[in-house]
Amino acid sequence: MKLIIAAIKPFKLEEVREALTAIGVRGMMVTEVKGFGSQSGHTEIYRGAEYAVNFVPKVKLEIAVAASMADQVVETIATTAKTDKIGDGKILVLDVTHAVRVRTGETNEDAL
Ligand SMILES: Nc1ncnc2c1ncn2[C@@H]1O[C@H](COP(=O)(O)OP(=O)(O)OP(=O)(O)O)[C@@H](O)[C@H]1O
Ligand SMILES: [Mg+2]
Repeated sequence: MKLIIAAIKPFKLEEVREALTAIGVRGMMVTEVKGFGSQSGHTEIYRGAEYAVNFVPKVKLEIAVAASMADQVVETIATTAKTDKIGDGKILVLDVTHAVRVRTGETNEDAL
């Protein structure tokens, strides 16, 4: 199993959720976060240099899937969240060693 963590632009959340459910993703965690990437958040020019002035709001998705689905999920997020402007987001993929569905006690891929 893999855990895909993605930071995306908030206005893209609904479109990404629809695209992911269309390829069979059945669950995800969604959190409003703030962050910055290579531009250090909003930047402004002061005496010729860029200074970070703020963190930028993003939505964080956490999606556990069978390893066989991970590439498709990453590709779907990447294409759906893309606007070609800075701050489109970041996608990370981690290994998951164990999962449990609390109601039934099912484990691992049966629990997802
Ligand atoms: N190295 C990182 N580690 C953890 N989270 C990150 C990292 N880089 C970016 N993020 C998260 O992703 C969000 C979006 O990052 P962003 O898209 O601006 O990355 P970038 O590398 O600056 O790309 P771009 O040049 O397209 O803006 C950040 O607000 C933050 O929440
Ligand atoms: Mg950036």
